[in-house]
Amino acid sequence: MNIILIGAQGSGKGTQAEKLSQSLDIRHVASGDLFRSAISQQTELGLKAKKYMDDGHLVPDDLTIAMVLDRLQAPDCANGVILDGFPRTIAQSQALDKGLANVGKRVDYALYLEVPRAELLKRLSGRYICKAHQHVYNIETNPPQIAGICDIDGSELYQRSDDRGEAIQKRLDIFFNDTIHLIDYYDGQQKLIRVNGNQSIDRVQQELVNVISERAGQC
Ligand code: AP5
Ligand code: MG
Repeated sequence: MNIILIGAQGSGKGTQAEKLSQSLDIRHVASGDLFRSAISQQTELGLKAKKYMDDGHLVPDDLTIAMVLDRLQAPDCANGVILDGFPRTIAQSQALDKGLANVGKRVDYALYLEVPRAELLKRLSGRYICKAHQHVYNIETNPPQIAGICDIDGSELYQRSDDRGEAIQKRLDIFFNDTIHLIDYYDGQQKLIRVNGNQSIDRVQQELVNVISERAGQC
């Protein structure tokens, strides 16, 4: 099963993908996490991506598509993936369709997490992630048991460089002006499922699990 999670910055893609990956036993692949790990390893890709990310811009399609399609070829993605943050442009969607078709696969569902902008701003300014594996927390809605420390791997929590000031507004503008066109793309393929992301983390997860099993039951 190959699933795409679409949603604005702060809509809960990473939070939900991590849980879904455990319940469906398929790999969570997040383009933002891949870029952040390239940055921390100071690879050539990381150095190129950093300047776009810090300013809240999208990384160019050619770099992003090559990175994600390469990741999808790894053996741990053979059973399927939950893609979080990719695709984000129509060119990326088309490249993904083509890349999957080349190996006899396809996107099964595109799940859109709908959350109002005011809530997104609140969530992003309270978000912290862990240094070791990018597990996600929120000082208001999802705090760690010990302040500043990841519950899962004990590593230190930090605030992302793009979760401050103007970069947040710019990222949200990019989503609502540009990325939103993906909704029509997947609706046209009858793969789009809208989910109310403005509920508790557990309720959103339950709704995602329900819609996936309903759709899978119809096939
Ligand atoms: P990326 O890392 O993908 O960031 P993003 O799209 O900005 O999305 P976020 O990670 O901010 O939000 P999320 O939906 O995952 O929310 P989360 O679960 O953390 O991309 C970063 C950058 O990389 C981009 O700006 C771009 O430069 C580049 N990039 C990545 N992919 C690219 C692509 N395809 N093309 C080009 N460039 C690309 O939750 C947010 C917070 O809310 C957390 O604190 C969480 O605890 C809390 N929370 C979650 N759910 C709930 C809930 N239901 N109720 C209350 N709080 C909640
Ligand atoms: Mg994320």
